[in-house]
Amino acid sequence: MAYYEANKISYEIRGRTIFKEISFQLEQKEFVSLVGANGIGKTTLSKLMIGIQKPSGGEIRLDGVPVSEYALFEVGRKVGYLFQNPSCQIFCPTIMEELLFSLRFQGGETPEGRDRAVEMMRRFSLLDAQNSPTHCLSQGEKQRLALATILMNQPEYLMLDEPTTGLDQVRKTELGHYLQEIHQSGVGILMISHDQDFVKQMSQRILRLDDGGLYEED
Ligand SMILES: Nc1ncnc2c1ncn2[C@@H]1O[C@H](COP(=O)(O)OP(=O)(O)OP(=O)(O)O)[C@@H](O)[C@H]1O
Ligand SMILES: [Mg+2]
Repeated sequence: MAYYEANKISYEIRGRTIFKEISFQLEQKEFVSLVGANGIGKTTLSKLMIGIQKPSGGEIRLDGVPVSEYALFEVGRKVGYLFQNPSCQIFCPTIMEELLFSLRFQGGETPEGRDRAVEMMRRFSLLDAQNSPTHCLSQGEKQRLALATILMNQPEYLMLDEPTTGLDQVRKTELGHYLQEIHQSGVGILMISHDQDFVKQMSQRILRLDDGGLYEED
């Protein structure tokens, strides 16, 4: 069964067509990558999928329901979204506060929530950095914190916009392991990336945006 179905979606901005009548499906538990040149519309497409932006035409369904019929927070409960720049989504002064803030819609801070936050810090190697202000964290630490924060809510699906940006080889390999582990736990993943090796290594299927169309790669 597909968790995302996009039916002939188009997107125009200021008279310019970014893509036209593209259709695709993402199956349950699939790891799919979305690739294409800079400025081709990958981030835009992912934002349409979570309802932050609206398509000019066509319809996107999430779990069978048009995305336009969900409130943004309802999509947010199902889909964890990692922004292209992780600094955009970190706004609490400490790692612990950031992790716990993500639980605000689930009754806020509880002993179980704190346990989960500590477990996330351990899993994402953030324990050593826990006393640093979040704005002083390294790029890799910010990225791991953003991912850990998303996972606090146990999303069913993950959307990652260029998750390897700014990571060295060691951190990239480590991210690959985290993502594989998350995928194996049953989470469907859509990853936008320019990193061809990483894409090949991680994905079951590759979609390419090119010249207004979407194509399946062999
Ligand atoms: N709100 C907006 N107003 C004007 N133009 C926009 C807007 N959103 C996106 N665009 C334009 O749409 C095009 C696609 O942008 P998008 O960020 O989706 O590309 P991308 O494939 O993610 O690129 P990159 O690989 O550089 O991240 C760009 O030319 C961008 O300038
Ligand atoms: Mg982008």
